[in-house]
Amino acid sequence: MSQSFDVAVIGAGPGGYVAAIRCGQLGLNTVCIDEWKNSQGKPSLGGTCLNVGCIPSKALLESSENYERAAHKFAAHGITVEGLSMNVPAMISRKDKIVSNFTGGVAMLFRKNKVTSMHGRAKLLESVKNENDNAHTLWRIEVKDGDKVDTIQAKHVIIATGSTPRILSFAPVDNERVLDNTGALALAEVPKRLGVIGGGVIGVEMGSLWRRLGAEVTILEALPQFLMSADEQVAKEARKIFTRELGLIIKTGIQISSIRSSEENITVEYTDAADAEKGVQTLEVDKLIVAVGRAPNTTGLGIENIGLKLDGRGYIEVDAGCRTNLPNVYAVGDVVRGPMLAHKASEEGVAVAEAIAGQAGHANLDTIPWVIYTSPEIAWVGKTEQELKAAGIEYKSGQFPFMANGRARALGEPGGFVKMLADAKTDRILGVHMIGPYVSELIAEAVVAMEFAATSEDIARIVHAHPSLSEVVHEAALAVDKRAIHI
Ligand code: FAD
Ligand code: NAI
Repeated sequence: MSQSFDVAVIGAGPGGYVAAIRCGQLGLNTVCIDEWKNSQGKPSLGGTCLNVGCIPSKALLESSENYERAAHKFAAHGITVEGLSMNVPAMISRKDKIVSNFTGGVAMLFRKNKVTSMHGRAKLLESVKNENDNAHTLWRIEVKDGDKVDTIQAKHVIIATGSTPRILSFAPVDNERVLDNTGALALAEVPKRLGVIGGGVIGVEMGSLWRRLGAEVTILEALPQFLMSADEQVAKEARKIFTRELGLIIKTGIQISSIRSSEENITVEYTDAADAEKGVQTLEVDKLIVAVGRAPNTTGLGIENIGLKLDGRGYIEVDAGCRTNLPNVYAVGDVVRGPMLAHKASEEGVAVAEAIAGQAGHANLDTIPWVIYTSPEIAWVGKTEQELKAAGIEYKSGQFPFMANGRARALGEPGGFVKMLADAKTDRILGVHMIGPYVSELIAEAVVAMEFAATSEDIARIVHAHPSLSEVVHEAALAVDKRAIHI
């Protein structure tokens, strides 16, 4: 007889594994099924985020920033470094160790919370009558791991199958020379010339990582603006700093016509809207990263068997509580609408687990923080200035630069600013946008403020430690009312 569970979670990324752990904590008999295998062909929990996303990229970014500091920034502190060199395989193996610690940690957390872990591809088969419980049907799920096929059943299903890189038909990824995020995080040496198609989040993070280690990096972005999802002013400042200080070559308004690969190099042919009279231009590179967005992953899940509804863009359609069109079937994370971020996936996972246990689960998509881990970092929460203008909402704006902050100057990181946007009448904070040192940490204050419906006046009246980077948030709040002190 097949094993029966209260909850079957499909996918062990940050959406699925967190949902499974929370279900375990709530006393639900839970199984989590995941098919991921690492480069050694071994099952590895944690999904995109832990294996080839958030964690490995941040590990490598940190290494590259240390190299950059030693090469270019220590001298100002009177520190001389001689014979500096970069051992890329050592950097990659440090990253791999961090990844395996964390993926192994998920297995340990499953054991601690009595979550059953199954390796293999899950396919939803059908719902059948539950002989022991008239209120619930049971979902039958096939789990296939190589030649081994099991069938399990569960009262509730949480789909957390994540996303995969979008493909460009003219740029087939082989992860040797044309790379997606997996290949970009596993290079054995620094390429002399690196091309990046797509000036989005992966493009700037991976581009700046390999640029800092010495590659000549050219980013080719289709849209006329750079980092379209960020506040325009922040995106402009970022482009200026990344171009002038880091040396990234960023081209926007690009249309790629062909990519040719030979033994020696990869040739990208493109037209540039800003340089139309030049006609077709070419870029020769040694490696090419393709990072043009990610697509929801519903392949092989059996959605056609059970009539699971997708929206027009291929995401599983869900309501605010992550309920699908089928009874007791939920979906969370990258496979549903909303930002493709790990913390968004996890919060939805928790909310669904709590809803299944009869509690009031809730994830607020309006206060999801975004962080881009470049140097300086970029972070925001809430509405951008362009969104407020488009919606016709009247707002006040306060801004303060890191240049005028003692801690930022002591760190040697004076670039960037914090901008706070507040409702013109009520003063309620509508959005906070940051570019500067450690803004990945500073954004938390803005998220808390917005969750508690704070006004800019509330932040302005809170004492912030001196000297600290958080004073820039305080001064930006004061600036909304034109009473910043240190400028
Ligand atoms: P995933 O993490 O994609 O996990 C889905 C899991 O489901 C996978 O293990 C997959 O193998 C499994 N699966 C799929 N189908 C089946 C099936 N039928 N049966 C069994 N298993 C299945 N986000 C951030 O918030 N911060 C960052 O710094 C960040 N950095 C990133 C860097 C890179 C290079 C990339 C690519 C992404 C990054 N992200 C970051 C995004 C983040 O990784 C995703 O938003 C997050 O992983 C989504 O979680 P998820 O659980 O929805 O899906
Ligand atoms: P993205 O959506 O951030 O950027 C893709 C870019 O590629 C867009 O600017 C798009 O206009 C451009 N593009 C599309 N087709 C193109 C073409 N043919 N030629 C040139 N440019 C083209 O997607 P990306 O960078 O692939 O990242 C995927 C997602 O992963 C992100 O949106 C984010 O949700 C997540 N992520 C989050 C990180 C973080 O939180 N720090 C880090 C990395 C990824």
